[in-house]
Amino acid sequence: MIYQIYPRSFQDTNADGIGDLKGIEQRLDYLSGLGVDAIWISPIYPSPMADFGYDVADYCDVDPRFGGLANFDSLLAHAHARGLKLLLDFVPNHTSDRHPWFVESRASRDNPKRDWYIWRDPAPDGGPPNNWISDFGGSAWQWDEATGQYYYHAFLKEQPDLNWRNPAVQTAMYDVMRFWFDRGVDGLRIDVLWHLVKAADFPDNPPNPAYQPAMGDMHRVLQLHSTDQPEVHEIASDMRGVADRYGASGQGERVLIGEIYLPVDRLLHYYGRERAEVHLPLNFQLIDAPWQARSLATLIADYEAALPPGAWPNWVLGNHDRPRVAAKRGQAQARIAAMLLLTLRGTPTLYYGDELGLSDVAIPPAQIQDPRELREPGLALGRDPVRTPMPWDGSENAGFTTTRPWLPLHADWPVRNVARMAQEPHSILTLYRRLLAARRAHPALAIGDFALLDAAGDVLAYARRHGAERLIVALNLGEHSQRLELPDWAGDCRVLLSTVADAALIEDGAVLLQANEGLILIAD
Ligand code: NOJ
Repeated sequence: MIYQIYPRSFQDTNADGIGDLKGIEQRLDYLSGLGVDAIWISPIYPSPMADFGYDVADYCDVDPRFGGLANFDSLLAHAHARGLKLLLDFVPNHTSDRHPWFVESRASRDNPKRDWYIWRDPAPDGGPPNNWISDFGGSAWQWDEATGQYYYHAFLKEQPDLNWRNPAVQTAMYDVMRFWFDRGVDGLRIDVLWHLVKAADFPDNPPNPAYQPAMGDMHRVLQLHSTDQPEVHEIASDMRGVADRYGASGQGERVLIGEIYLPVDRLLHYYGRERAEVHLPLNFQLIDAPWQARSLATLIADYEAALPPGAWPNWVLGNHDRPRVAAKRGQAQARIAAMLLLTLRGTPTLYYGDELGLSDVAIPPAQIQDPRELREPGLALGRDPVRTPMPWDGSENAGFTTTRPWLPLHADWPVRNVARMAQEPHSILTLYRRLLAARRAHPALAIGDFALLDAAGDVLAYARRHGAERLIVALNLGEHSQRLELPDWAGDCRVLLSTVADAALIEDGAVLLQANEGLILIAD
């Protein structure tokens, strides 16, 4: 189980209102107590923070706001001492415009680093070379007066895209991977992996027939030519080659996780075909899925069926870019979502604070930080609401910082915080701990076969089997109690865990689910 930390918001130790590596180190006991296996930390590299660290100015150092390499080494050693793996965010698609590579690249047309980025002449009318749109709105091309060309940026103009068709870029970035792997980092989450290679001739993207202004400017066109090009798979398998050498040489396996937003068939291609690519192309389907038993069942079954042989599944409920699960599904169903996430086959990823049922926080206009919101205001595309500080206890600023936090805390932090919820037998935090413990005690929940039992009305029920172990997960997605007929093989099963009260009634081969109740049953 992977736990994602947004480092600005986890724990501040130097009173600047921003979290840091020392803070993460101080909270490692919490993470191992919760039962996570690995932590993934969003970018910590030196950065002007135009996109809060996803604009990297030096891939081989730590931003002073977060600490330094010595803090990093200490965090890694302490994580490893507790048996926790540590994964970093790797941002290979683009650098900061302040990265020395780009400073050189823009210095002149004949600079040796010119071709490390994507430079193009203007269209005949002097405008941008094509119609590609930045994910943050507006043309993806930025005019450079000094050298008379445009450069391409899939995100902010402060995030120029690297030219991955240039072998020198590939070599430099594989060196970056080795820099962190040699330090002992256990794996990398690769930012926007499907963006790395663009169509060689830069044709216009086709218009999106489903575009509505509320979707945001980027959706005016389909990213047909600007993303997911066939050549990206060679790069992904070369990256895998870099990682695999660590396992092969006995230094410990290194995992690669790809951030990829694509339909399932194209997503699964990133496991690799002839050559292995990433271990886990992130599967974000649960974030947007209609919350109905039938649709969830279909989605799970289709994904399972489409997995290539040997591919290990994974599931995600939230991250630093998307609405929080509690905001989307409500508090009662956030508990069901937790049970779903932790009883599906594969590796689950948990976003910090979701274990507390944190919801999206309304950010007063004057405190908005996210460039996405600032560039396209009012469309609910901003990500500040899901990046607010972790509430640790009832002390000032929830124990996150001793000064004003960089983003406001959620209003109910005096009751919704770790110290308090850890004491409450029925809090969502306690539920997460129990689910993680159950998953550890019953391997069927993590690695067992998955078989759908029921997906009628509001009930989603499935069996998980491994060896002699047989469990049933039954989730009531609705507000009314439901009776679920159990399969004959369930025999005398008993309740292992409930999201509500652990007192479910099992009678005459059926179980009664309360409103919003999720159950794990175990067949003896
Ligand atoms: C995806 C990251 O998750 C997001 O936060 C970031 O803004 C973009 N990539 C650009 O790096």
